Amino acid sequence: MTQPPSSGPTTTRALRGRAVTFRADPFLDDPAHALVHEDDALILIEDGRISRFGPFEALRHTIPDGIPVTTYPDSLLSAGFVDTHVHYPQLPMIAAYGEQLLEWLERYTFPTEAKFADPGHARAVARRFLRELLRAGTTTAAVYCTVHPQSVDAFFDESARLNTRMVAGKVLMDRNAPDDLRDTAQGGYDDSLALIDRWHRRGRQLYAVTPRFAATSTEEQLDLAGSLLRQRDGLFMQTHLAENTAEIAWIRRLFPNRASYLDVYAHAGLVGPRSVLGHAVHVDEDDFCTCHQAGCALAHCPTSNLFLGSGSFRLFDAVDVRRPVRVGLGTDVGAGTSLSQLGSLNEAYKVAQATGRRLHPAQAFWLATAGGARSLYLDDRIGTLAVGMEADLCVLDPKATPLMAQRAETCETIEDLLFILMMLGDDRSVRATYVAGELVHDRDDPAHTHPAVSFR
Ligand code: GUN
Ligand code: ZN
Repeated sequence: MTQPPSSGPTTTRALRGRAVTFRADPFLDDPAHALVHEDDALILIEDGRISRFGPFEALRHTIPDGIPVTTYPDSLLSAGFVDTHVHYPQLPMIAAYGEQLLEWLERYTFPTEAKFADPGHARAVARRFLRELLRAGTTTAAVYCTVHPQSVDAFFDESARLNTRMVAGKVLMDRNAPDDLRDTAQGGYDDSLALIDRWHRRGRQLYAVTPRFAATSTEEQLDLAGSLLRQRDGLFMQTHLAENTAEIAWIRRLFPNRASYLDVYAHAGLVGPRSVLGHAVHVDEDDFCTCHQAGCALAHCPTSNLFLGSGSFRLFDAVDVRRPVRVGLGTDVGAGTSLSQLGSLNEAYKVAQATGRRLHPAQAFWLATAGGARSLYLDDRIGTLAVGMEADLCVLDPKATPLMAQRAETCETIEDLLFILMMLGDDRSVRATYVAGELVHDRDDPAHTHPAVSFR
């Protein structure tokens, strides 16, 4: 980097470096055509948005007088990563040993989430979580809080300070959970509506109605969640679907009158645009057709599915061109083992291999950026580098470690370089992260870290 960037809410910035983004969906189009690669790009940022993007030499005359150029040699400029499924309160219990889903929830997750009754604890974890996300190059996430409204206030407060575009909500849970983690159908509704009116569309914050999963909500609570979605415009819905076989057998016992696990949610009016269903490991062709028609999204969470032994998400069946379903990538921390979407892509590649398919690097990076944005219906604002988009970016370093540097030497194409990043990269490969044009993480110069994420 040649010039330290200055800060301020309306800073004009000029970034220069190799850039990658997308002009099309590489699952539906030829990946080589879908990927946009600019060897020497200018990204001009004004008022938090990208105002120019293209070849540096052709555009350099558009840089306003007196604006320094921040150059990132040997790097890749990309839209910030989008994480479509993650639990911020579970950060303290990441890497908890030995269990599969239902026992893991009982033994580790519920006791960890109970601590979020304390707003001070919630604030401290929210702050650490957001800082870790930005270190990983992730600028937008769909986030589960806990059943406590104060856990939601803590998260949105911290996100608003950073000006990150986040989707989050209070977990609804009125049965099959410990006493100190249960709400009631009406209480959960009232608390959610108050949070919606406090946070939804306030700055860049967006609210997701969040029934944890069908096992921990009565039918009455699910119906009220559906009703909540109709109370205000542009709300999201997030929950878990068909992750684990024991879970699915339980749902069948709890809802004997529903045709399928997905039908439990559809019946309550929870499956539509801006609904994000986590996992969907054990679903069938009828479910994929329903999701396609409804316009909901599935969050593919490979590190979590491997960690909990849940199974393999059928990515290429989900995105089948005859009835493509929107798919995003989720870390699902604390069941996921990394907040880095590079880590998720590493495992997504292996899951695809295990199901006989090959995840092209362009498809992989699309999932982590533009595909995630599309699954959240936010692709008109985030997920790509283009004029008018919100300037949420990450700067990736394909030579972050000695091994990567050595391996990168033999890369001939941009696809090779992307593949190295997804197989060998992690937070060390994130050179810098920008949120709405502001530098919020600088790996090599912590003094430039945004004050809202500084612990000093
Ligand atoms: N199903 C219900 N709750 C959870 C959770 O917190 N994590 C995961 N992975 N699955 C769930
Ligand atoms: Zn989850």
